Amino acid sequence: ATALILTALLGYLLGSVPFGLVITRALGLGDVRKIGSGNIGATNVLRTGSKPAALATLLLDGGKGAVAVLIARAFAGEDAAQMAGLSAFLGHLYPVWLGFKGGKGVATFLGTVIALAWPVGLAACATWLTAAVVTRRSSLGALVAAALCVLWAPLLGHGSLVILIAILAVLVFWRHRSNIARIIAGEEPKIGRK
Ligand code: G3P
Repeated sequence: ATALILTALLGYLLGSVPFGLVITRALGLGDVRKIGSGNIGATNVLRTGSKPAALATLLLDGGKGAVAVLIARAFAGEDAAQMAGLSAFLGHLYPVWLGFKGGKGVATFLGTVIALAWPVGLAACATWLTAAVVTRRSSLGALVAAALCVLWAPLLGHGSLVILIAILAVLVFWRHRSNIARIIAGEEPKIGRK
Protein backbone atom coordinates (compact mmCIF):
# COMPACT_ATOMS: atom_id res chain seq x y z
CA ALA A 1 0.00 0.00 0.00
CA THR A 2 2.85 2.37 0.82
CA ALA A 3 4.32 1.83 -2.65
CA LEU A 4 0.96 2.65 -4.28
CA ILE A 5 0.55 5.83 -2.24
CA LEU A 6 4.10 6.94 -3.04
CA THR A 7 3.69 6.27 -6.76
CA ALA A 8 0.36 8.13 -6.74
CA LEU A 9 2.09 11.12 -5.17
CA LEU A 10 5.03 10.97 -7.56
CA GLY A 11 2.69 10.61 -10.55
CA TYR A 12 0.59 13.55 -9.45
CA LEU A 13 3.63 15.80 -8.89
CA LEU A 14 5.11 14.96 -12.29
CA GLY A 15 1.76 15.32 -14.04
CA SER A 16 1.05 18.67 -12.41
CA VAL A 17 4.01 20.41 -14.12
CA PRO A 18 2.24 22.62 -16.70
CA PHE A 19 4.81 22.48 -19.48
CA GLY A 20 2.71 24.54 -21.91
CA LEU A 21 2.71 27.41 -19.45
CA VAL A 22 6.37 26.99 -18.47
CA ILE A 23 7.58 26.88 -22.09
CA THR A 24 5.50 29.80 -23.38
CA ARG A 25 6.59 31.92 -20.42
CA ALA A 26 10.25 30.98 -20.85
CA LEU A 27 10.08 31.94 -24.55
CA GLY A 28 8.28 35.22 -23.83
CA LEU A 29 5.19 34.16 -25.80
CA GLY A 30 2.80 35.59 -23.20
CA ASP A 31 0.20 33.80 -21.09
CA VAL A 32 -1.18 30.89 -23.13
CA ARG A 33 -4.27 30.93 -20.88
CA LYS A 34 -5.26 34.30 -22.34
CA ILE A 35 -5.30 33.23 -25.99
CA GLY A 36 -7.39 30.86 -28.12
CA SER A 37 -9.22 28.27 -26.05
CA GLY A 38 -7.33 29.33 -22.90
CA ASN A 39 -6.03 25.77 -22.53
CA ILE A 40 -2.43 25.04 -21.49
CA GLY A 41 -1.97 22.20 -24.00
CA ALA A 42 0.08 21.88 -27.18
CA THR A 43 -2.86 22.70 -29.47
CA ASN A 44 -3.35 26.06 -27.81
CA VAL A 45 0.41 26.73 -27.54
CA LEU A 46 0.44 26.40 -31.36
CA ARG A 47 -1.94 29.38 -31.44
CA THR A 48 0.91 31.55 -30.11
CA GLY A 49 2.44 30.92 -33.55
CA SER A 50 5.38 28.88 -32.29
CA LYS A 51 5.54 25.36 -33.71
CA PRO A 52 8.66 24.42 -31.68
CA ALA A 53 6.92 25.50 -28.45
CA ALA A 54 3.85 23.44 -29.37
CA LEU A 55 5.97 20.38 -30.20
CA ALA A 56 7.96 20.72 -26.98
CA THR A 57 4.71 21.01 -24.99
CA LEU A 58 3.33 17.87 -26.66
CA LEU A 59 6.50 15.87 -25.98
CA LEU A 60 7.00 17.05 -22.39
CA ASP A 61 3.33 16.73 -21.38
CA GLY A 62 3.40 13.23 -22.89
CA GLY A 63 6.82 12.48 -21.46
CA LYS A 64 5.83 13.26 -17.87
CA GLY A 65 3.10 10.61 -18.03
CA ALA A 66 5.51 8.08 -19.51
CA VAL A 67 8.25 8.84 -16.96
CA ALA A 68 5.80 8.45 -14.06
CA VAL A 69 4.76 5.03 -15.37
CA LEU A 70 8.33 3.84 -16.02
CA ILE A 71 9.62 4.92 -12.58
CA ALA A 72 6.68 3.32 -10.79
CA ARG A 73 7.04 0.08 -12.77
CA ALA A 74 10.78 -0.14 -12.05
CA PHE A 75 10.31 0.25 -8.30
CA ALA A 76 6.91 -1.25 -7.57
CA GLY A 77 5.51 -3.24 -10.51
CA GLU A 78 2.57 -3.12 -12.86
CA ASP A 79 -0.24 -2.04 -10.50
CA ALA A 80 1.90 0.87 -9.33
CA ALA A 81 2.62 1.74 -12.98
CA GLN A 82 -1.11 2.03 -13.69
CA MET A 83 -1.61 4.06 -10.52
CA ALA A 84 1.23 6.42 -11.51
CA GLY A 85 -0.25 6.87 -14.99
CA LEU A 86 -3.68 7.73 -13.59
CA SER A 87 -2.13 10.11 -11.05
CA ALA A 88 0.02 11.88 -13.65
CA PHE A 89 -3.06 12.33 -15.83
CA LEU A 90 -5.04 13.75 -12.89
CA GLY A 91 -2.08 15.99 -12.01
CA HIS A 92 -2.17 17.45 -15.52
CA LEU A 93 -5.94 17.99 -15.39
CA TYR A 94 -6.03 19.36 -11.84
CA PRO A 95 -2.63 20.88 -10.87
CA VAL A 96 -2.54 22.35 -7.37
CA TRP A 97 -0.12 25.05 -8.64
CA LEU A 98 -2.75 26.52 -10.98
CA GLY A 99 -5.66 26.39 -8.56
CA PHE A 100 -6.57 22.95 -10.01
CA LYS A 101 -7.19 24.51 -13.44
CA GLY A 102 -5.12 22.34 -15.77
CA GLY A 103 -5.27 20.88 -19.23
CA LYS A 104 -7.41 18.46 -21.21
CA GLY A 105 -5.04 15.51 -20.89
CA VAL A 106 -4.51 14.43 -24.49
CA ALA A 107 -0.69 14.43 -24.56
CA THR A 108 -0.45 12.97 -21.06
CA PHE A 109 -2.99 10.28 -22.01
CA LEU A 110 -0.90 9.29 -25.04
CA GLY A 111 2.42 9.29 -23.14
CA THR A 112 0.97 7.28 -20.27
CA VAL A 113 -0.52 4.64 -22.56
CA ILE A 114 2.69 4.39 -24.61
CA ALA A 115 4.63 3.59 -21.43
CA LEU A 116 1.98 1.16 -20.12
CA ALA A 117 1.72 -0.79 -23.39
CA TRP A 118 3.49 0.72 -26.39
CA PRO A 119 1.45 -1.03 -29.12
CA VAL A 120 -1.76 0.38 -27.61
CA GLY A 121 -0.09 3.80 -27.24
CA LEU A 122 1.10 3.80 -30.84
CA ALA A 123 -2.37 2.79 -32.03
CA ALA A 124 -3.82 5.70 -30.03
CA CYS A 125 -1.26 8.14 -31.49
CA ALA A 126 -1.98 6.91 -35.03
CA THR A 127 -5.74 7.27 -34.42
CA TRP A 128 -5.28 10.79 -33.06
CA LEU A 129 -3.06 11.88 -35.96
CA THR A 130 -5.33 10.34 -38.60
CA ALA A 131 -8.54 11.77 -37.15
CA ALA A 132 -6.94 15.19 -36.52
CA VAL A 133 -5.52 15.40 -40.06
CA VAL A 134 -8.75 14.22 -41.69
CA THR A 135 -11.02 16.55 -39.66
CA ARG A 136 -8.41 19.35 -39.27
CA ARG A 137 -9.52 19.53 -35.59
CA SER A 138 -7.12 18.54 -32.81
CA SER A 139 -9.95 18.15 -30.31
CA LEU A 140 -11.92 15.82 -32.58
CA GLY A 141 -8.80 13.74 -33.14
CA ALA A 142 -8.35 13.46 -29.38
CA LEU A 143 -11.96 12.42 -28.79
CA VAL A 144 -11.83 9.73 -31.49
CA ALA A 145 -8.46 8.47 -30.21
CA ALA A 146 -9.58 8.33 -26.57
CA ALA A 147 -12.79 6.46 -27.43
CA LEU A 148 -11.13 3.96 -29.78
CA CYS A 149 -8.25 3.32 -27.37
CA VAL A 150 -10.74 1.48 -25.14
CA LEU A 151 -11.03 -1.02 -28.04
CA TRP A 152 -7.32 -1.07 -29.01
CA ALA A 153 -6.28 -2.29 -25.54
CA PRO A 154 -8.14 -5.65 -25.60
CA LEU A 155 -7.65 -6.09 -29.36
CA LEU A 156 -3.87 -5.76 -28.91
CA GLY A 157 -3.77 -8.14 -25.94
CA HIS A 158 -3.78 -5.62 -23.09
CA GLY A 159 -7.23 -6.21 -21.63
CA SER A 160 -5.88 -5.50 -18.15
CA LEU A 161 -5.65 -1.82 -19.15
CA VAL A 162 -9.26 -1.41 -20.28
CA ILE A 163 -10.64 -0.03 -17.02
CA LEU A 164 -7.85 2.52 -16.62
CA ILE A 165 -8.09 3.60 -20.28
CA ALA A 166 -11.89 3.89 -20.01
CA ILE A 167 -11.50 6.18 -16.99
CA LEU A 168 -8.93 8.32 -18.84
CA ALA A 169 -11.15 8.45 -21.94
CA VAL A 170 -14.21 9.58 -19.95
CA LEU A 171 -12.10 12.34 -18.36
CA VAL A 172 -10.77 13.41 -21.78
CA PHE A 173 -14.39 13.79 -22.96
CA TRP A 174 -15.33 15.65 -19.75
CA ARG A 175 -12.45 18.12 -20.25
CA HIS A 176 -13.47 18.69 -23.88
CA ARG A 177 -17.03 19.82 -23.02
CA SER A 178 -16.56 23.25 -24.57
CA ASN A 179 -14.86 21.71 -27.64
CA ILE A 180 -17.73 19.23 -28.07
CA ALA A 181 -20.23 22.11 -27.94
CA ARG A 182 -18.22 24.00 -30.59
CA ILE A 183 -17.89 20.88 -32.78
CA ILE A 184 -21.67 20.37 -32.68
CA ALA A 185 -22.22 24.07 -33.50
CA GLY A 186 -19.69 23.83 -36.35
CA GLU A 187 -17.52 26.46 -34.65
CA GLU A 188 -14.43 24.49 -33.62
CA PRO A 189 -11.39 26.17 -35.22
CA LYS A 190 -9.03 24.22 -37.46
CA ILE A 191 -5.57 23.29 -36.13
CA GLY A 192 -3.34 26.36 -36.02
CA ARG A 193 -6.23 28.82 -36.19
CA LYS A 194 -7.57 30.92 -33.35
O1 G3P B 1 -5.17 18.92 -26.44
C1 G3P B 1 -6.36 19.56 -26.31
C2 G3P B 1 -7.02 19.60 -27.67
O2 G3P B 1 -7.69 18.40 -27.92
C3 G3P B 1 -7.95 20.76 -27.81
O3 G3P B 1 -7.26 21.95 -27.44
O4 G3P B 1 -6.96 24.37 -27.25
O5 G3P B 1 -8.36 23.46 -29.11
O6 G3P B 1 -9.20 23.37 -26.78
P1 G3P B 1 -7.98 23.36 -27.64
